[in-house]
Amino acid sequence: MQLNTLSMVHEFLKQHVRPGAFCIDATAGKGRDTALLCRLAGDTGRVLAFDIQEEAVTQTRALLEQEGLTAQVILNSHANMEQYAQAGTADCVVFNFGRLPGGDPAVFTRGPSSVAAIGAGLRLLKPGGVMTIALYYGKENGYGERDAVLAYLRGLDDRTCSVLCCDWANRRNDPPMPIFIWKER
Ligand SMILES: C[S@@+](CC[C@H](N)C(=O)[O-])C[C@H]1O[C@@H](n2cnc3c(N)ncnc32)[C@H](O)[C@@H]1O
Repeated sequence: MQLNTLSMVHEFLKQHVRPGAFCIDATAGKGRDTALLCRLAGDTGRVLAFDIQEEAVTQTRALLEQEGLTAQVILNSHANMEQYAQAGTADCVVFNFGRLPGGDPAVFTRGPSSVAAIGAGLRLLKPGGVMTIALYYGKENGYGERDAVLAYLRGLDDRTCSVLCCDWANRRNDPPMPIFIWKER
């Protein structure tokens, strides 16, 4: 199978998320990332998942129930995630920007709230915690969100975190960029 952004992100999460971890899925969507985080964090861990669409919350809860997994799935913007967790407590925050596959095409992640949510996620991470981002762009989404997110990440102080932005150099059709962030200890 050809390597892709989601498989790279999932491999990274498998390497970094341990049983007992506190994880946040900032874009629940169909719940696939939430389910992976639940499996990795295990019975002793805790997972919060956010989405602004009722349909995504319903789909995520249905997937979790089908797989016998538990997470708190919250209908709210990821920009508000600090209302639900203490600063410096999360082991992992996951973003999968873009739109809900098969959902309302008018609802998708936007630069200002995405940047605010990444900032919130970084404050929630504990030292040594990790963040992943699948950064979609192009087509109907345009390039505004990608440019805003990359500008924000490039401005982060390297004493607080390290950011690795990967770019598919020769793939057609604007494939999402995998981005990995480590909060310094
Ligand atoms: C590409 S999908 C996520 C896919 C998902 N991680 C999965 O595994 O199926 C992006 C999701 O972000 C959601 N979204 C858009 N803006 C949001 C916001 N401000 N806060 C939280 N979720 C948002 C959309 O409703 C959509 O469901």
